[in-house]
Amino acid sequence: MVDNSSRKTSAKLWGGRFSSSTAASVEEFTQSIQYDWRLYRQDIAGSKVHAGMLARQGLITEEERDAIISGLEEIRGEIEEGTFTFRTELEDIHMNIEKALTDKIGAAGEKLHTARSRNDQVALDLRLYMREEAETLDILLQDVQNGFVKLARKYLGVVMPGYTHLQRAQPVLLSHHLLAYFEMFKRDRSRLSDCLSRLNLSPLGAAAMAGTGLPIDREFVAEKLGFAGVTANSMDTTGDRDYVMEYLFCLTTIQLHLSRLSEELVLWSSKEFEFIDIGDRYCTGSSIMPQKKNPDIPELIRGKTGRVVGSLMALLVTVKGLPLTYNRDLQEDKEPLFDALDTVKGGLSITAELLDNVTFKADRLKEATHGGFMTATDIADYLVRKNMPFRQAHGVVGNIVAQCQQRDIELTDLTLSELQEFSQLIDEDIFSVLTVEGSVNSRTSIGGTGIQRVSAAVEEAEGYLCS
Ligand code: ARG
Repeated sequence: MVDNSSRKTSAKLWGGRFSSSTAASVEEFTQSIQYDWRLYRQDIAGSKVHAGMLARQGLITEEERDAIISGLEEIRGEIEEGTFTFRTELEDIHMNIEKALTDKIGAAGEKLHTARSRNDQVALDLRLYMREEAETLDILLQDVQNGFVKLARKYLGVVMPGYTHLQRAQPVLLSHHLLAYFEMFKRDRSRLSDCLSRLNLSPLGAAAMAGTGLPIDREFVAEKLGFAGVTANSMDTTGDRDYVMEYLFCLTTIQLHLSRLSEELVLWSSKEFEFIDIGDRYCTGSSIMPQKKNPDIPELIRGKTGRVVGSLMALLVTVKGLPLTYNRDLQEDKEPLFDALDTVKGGLSITAELLDNVTFKADRLKEATHGGFMTATDIADYLVRKNMPFRQAHGVVGNIVAQCQQRDIELTDLTLSELQEFSQLIDEDIFSVLTVEGSVNSRTSIGGTGIQRVSAAVEEAEGYLCS
């Protein structure tokens, strides 16, 4: 798509003060068209509104405005049909489009850049692009949440071990575990929308960095492009990439959540756990070991997390130490942003599909709750209810566990009299708290794993997704 073979000698749009043409190597090194071409729709949308504003302000005529707008529309059509040639020597998307426009409509095209700099133009394009992509991200996040809620509904009542330090800790409902992810992705959506509230301001009119003396109307442009307002300080506006850093942080958090999920799916599908089965269509095999069925999707999502984190780091380091205002270093914001966006969108979309193709093995999950003294905390709580201070209760149960370990038995194997040797407060009713179901359902605190809490949470999540 990008043509760097036919290096035309045509003058640069900024060529006036130069006496010799740019070295080909410099053109190659400084160009960004190879990747910023994807901002073409936003660049054109911004230019159309900018031209409308220039005409309203009497800076160009209505005929010039109309010629600009139809010329830009034609260019958009050509880009979308694949007939537009992007030229390396024109550096970036802004100059490629502006030059093509001038070639098409003549002098009116040369007026488009009035009261505008590529510095505010690129900030505008990026903000528009990121805003649009945020909508796609939100839909993808919702699809993933939907996958979790469907599973939580399907498996309501199934118990499994809850882990800390990857050691069996306390029994929980599988649906509770699944809804933890629902919450993580809910935060991701809200974090993104919070980031948008700062991003959604129009930078156009900051010009190169100091504003302009021409009678522009920044607010008109902002309103037409759907921004909530305009940025305040022209110097801050062209030097600022906080919104990209923040957005990349949002993307990184989503990716980290996907990665943690992936890690669990890899573990759970292993012979060691055998908690889930991933549908054949969503696994791959080994070229040498005929028996293998590998969880490559979650592995790749986990693997791709490095590049998303790397993208965030790359931009943070790029911005560090830059003097105000615009510096060409800032051109380096786009590749990490695009790469992170592509990676996260791909990960979310395949995860939604994957969740529809995971089957949980209820019997195995239940079996895994036996052993590991997972109801030990319940005995301590039982003693607390009988007025024993928690620290003492912790000690008593610690002794019980130690004895069980010595005798290689489970808590449920102890008789009442054996239990009573540890504390006279223990009675017949202890056995109801020793069962896995008893333990789970006793956790009725807000946010706890008791069945009533979890079924209410499933219902609430379903309501949230419908609203
Ligand atoms: N391609 C540039 C970028 O992405 C656009 C702004 C260039 N401005 C300039 N004064 N060289 O940052």
